[in-house]
Amino acid sequence: AIERTLSIIKPDAVAKNVIGQIYSRFEGAGLKVIAARMMHLSRNDAEAFYGVHRERPFFKDLVEFMISGPVMVQALEGEGAILKNRDLMGATDPKKAAAGTIRADFADSIDANAVHGSDAPETAAVEIAFFFPGMSIHSR
Ligand code: CMP
Repeated sequence: AIERTLSIIKPDAVAKNVIGQIYSRFEGAGLKVIAARMMHLSRNDAEAFYGVHRERPFFKDLVEFMISGPVMVQALEGEGAILKNRDLMGATDPKKAAAGTIRADFADSIDANAVHGSDAPETAAVEIAFFFPGMSIHSR
């Protein structure tokens, strides 16, 4: 089925100037960018976005990292977009990410892991709505 997923290019990958290389991977896999914005998250934004992880030991470091510089946020659309994007990203920990995945190629650590992608249809819908009002999504 055609799905939508929320993708974030994190501060480490933006700093490495690889936004275009990562977009090329989305496009090469048949995923379309249907909404996008570059932003520097506030602490409130990052804590709200990662609210499900609030009790996890890595929460504080995760928030600090996500507000350390600008991020590129996009909604992607395509056949099986959620799993397709997760396959492109590779494992959360870049040391475990398969060769040729975004994290294997661009990420340095489990925190500075280059990209975020929604993990399920329910979270994708919530995460897309968090960043994009309906009128800024351009399905095509
Ligand atoms: P992301 O997909 O953005 O979702 C939560 C983030 O927490 C994850 O990517 C990692 O960057 C970060 N993180 C840090 N430590 C861990 C951990 N032990 N397990 C899962 N995520 C972690």
